Order: sequence, then structure tokens, then C-alpha cells
Amino acid sequence: MKYRIAPLFCRPWTLNGMSPKLIESHYENNYGAALNRLNALTHELQTLDVATVPAEVISRLSREQTSLLNSTLLHELYFASLGGDGRAPLETIANAIARDFGSVQRWRREFIALGEGLAGDCGWVLLTYVPRDGRLINQSTSDHAQSIAGGIPILALDMYEHAYHIDFGANTTAYVAAFMRNIHWQAVEARYTDATSVPAPRRLEQPEFGDLPSITPEEVQELLDSGQRVQIIDTRPRHYSTRAQDIVDGAVWRDPERIDEWIGTLSKDEPVVTFCVYGFHIGCQSATALRKAGFDARYMAGGHYAWKAIKGRVKLFDEGVDE
Ligand SMILES: [Fe+2]
Repeated sequence: MKYRIAPLFCRPWTLNGMSPKLIESHYENNYGAALNRLNALTHELQTLDVATVPAEVISRLSREQTSLLNSTLLHELYFASLGGDGRAPLETIANAIARDFGSVQRWRREFIALGEGLAGDCGWVLLTYVPRDGRLINQSTSDHAQSIAGGIPILALDMYEHAYHIDFGANTTAYVAAFMRNIHWQAVEARYTDATSVPAPRRLEQPEFGDLPSITPEEVQELLDSGQRVQIIDTRPRHYSTRAQDIVDGAVWRDPERIDEWIGTLSKDEPVVTFCVYGFHIGCQSATALRKAGFDARYMAGGHYAWKAIKGRVKLFDEGVDE
């Protein structure tokens, strides 16, 4: 694969307080160099003999390729971030920024602070949309390769010295201010609109339990912290439980094979949460049986391990105590 050069997106002579000379040098010498090195490295990787070249060499070349590809992509985004009057973001992107940062003003201060925070250093400041979360986030990176996985950057500020020293010397404050004055909000908003059409990564689906209500471990934690009464039933299979070292603090273990024997000990006045090891079957089946019997029961998504992964409180598992 050969990567192709992208034409300069912004019109250098229209920028306010940033000279054509700066943009031309940046485009030609830095963006161009990244692209050329990316192509050379990609060629090298594609043509080397993977059977004989040591793994560490392939690994180093691959990392370098990632860094150069990101440098290329971010430079294209940087030039596509400039060329507007920088004043107020348009309505759609302004609303999205206000939703995710509190206000446009607050976002602006944070974005500028991240830029100024890279003074004397180098890196990128990015406004990125994350489809998984359906939200925007500011990101400060200290090198080209630190992108948010699955994120779509829609605005980029280059904080490498080559991006400003010709016009601003070491005065990064003036450079960041000039960048903000030149943001092309129309283009940023168009990219935001495109980014929001990217679906979130597929979540775990369990069609056989599609209608069964679930609860997240975080919500269970909030219920417990709020002092609300809730019956938490650990229904990990007996063969698993006998090996287990710990149990959710606040839960009792009940054998899922003997649900008829313990269902009568539960109260219908308080909600019930059941869970198993990973949240796939047993916890769901228990919740289904309890709902059929008229209980307000839900299963905890992710089960015992999700609870442990969020550092939920556990206690030593002693089957006898709860029997
Ligand atoms: Fe650059």
C-alpha cells in the first residue's frame, strides 16, 4: 500500500496571525517527511522476509509505522482544523461540546490549557469523539502514537515546535491563541456529524435472555452504598463455588440446582439480584425462574468477575455461614 499526499485543506493566505511560510514549511517538511517515511517503512515491512528477520526488528518497524501513520493522519486533521474565524462553534457542535464539557467556555479553557501544558515539550491536543460512549473528550498526547482506540479526532492542535517556531519562537501561548482564532468550526462540525454516524462497538448480546432485565455491577454498588435493601444471590454452580475464595460482600450463595428449596426464603418486598461467574447463563436462568415466581429479580451483567474487576467489596467465601 502506498499512502498518498492530501492537498492542503486550509488556505494559508487567509489565516489570521499565522504566516503562509509557517504553514508551507510545516506541510512540506514535516507532514511530507512523515508521509515519505511512512511509505518507505511500509515498503520495508511488506518486503522483508518474515521467516528470517528477528521478531524484535519487525516489532520496531511496526511501531514506527504506527507512529508515522498517526503523524500523517493528525497532520491532515491539523491543516483541516484551520481556515475559519475561530469565533463561536456552530449550533450542533456547540451543543455537543456543552453536553460533554459543561459549556463551550469550559471546553475552550481546558483545550487551551492542554496546549499550553505542552510548552517546551511536544505532542498533540485533540478533540475526539468516542463512538462507544457517544461523547467528546479532549486528549493531550506526548507523541504521535497515543490515540484513543476507536476514537475519531475531529480537531487537532499540533504542539511540536516545528508547528510554531517560525512565527512565534517559544511563545506557545500566542501560538495556541492564534490557532483558536483560526479554527474552522464548520469543518469541525461536519466531522463531528460524520463521527456520530459511526456505531458504537457491538456489545455482548444474549438473545436467549433478551427480555430479561439486568443490572450493572456499578448499579448494584450504588444500591448497597445508598443503604437500599436488596437481596443479592450468588448462584455460581456448586462445583465452581467449592473452589472459590471469595464472594460479593452482601451476597449469599445459593445452589442454582436447588432453587425450589431456597426460593421460599426470599422476600417479594425487596428486589433480588442474581449472578454467576461471568454473567452468561446460570445467573440469567436463576433471575428468569425468580421472575416467573413473581420476584422483582434481575441478573448482574458480567457476574462475579465484573464485580471484582470494579473492585467491588468481597469477603472470604464460607459456604456454611450462609447456609
Ligand atoms: Fe507538525
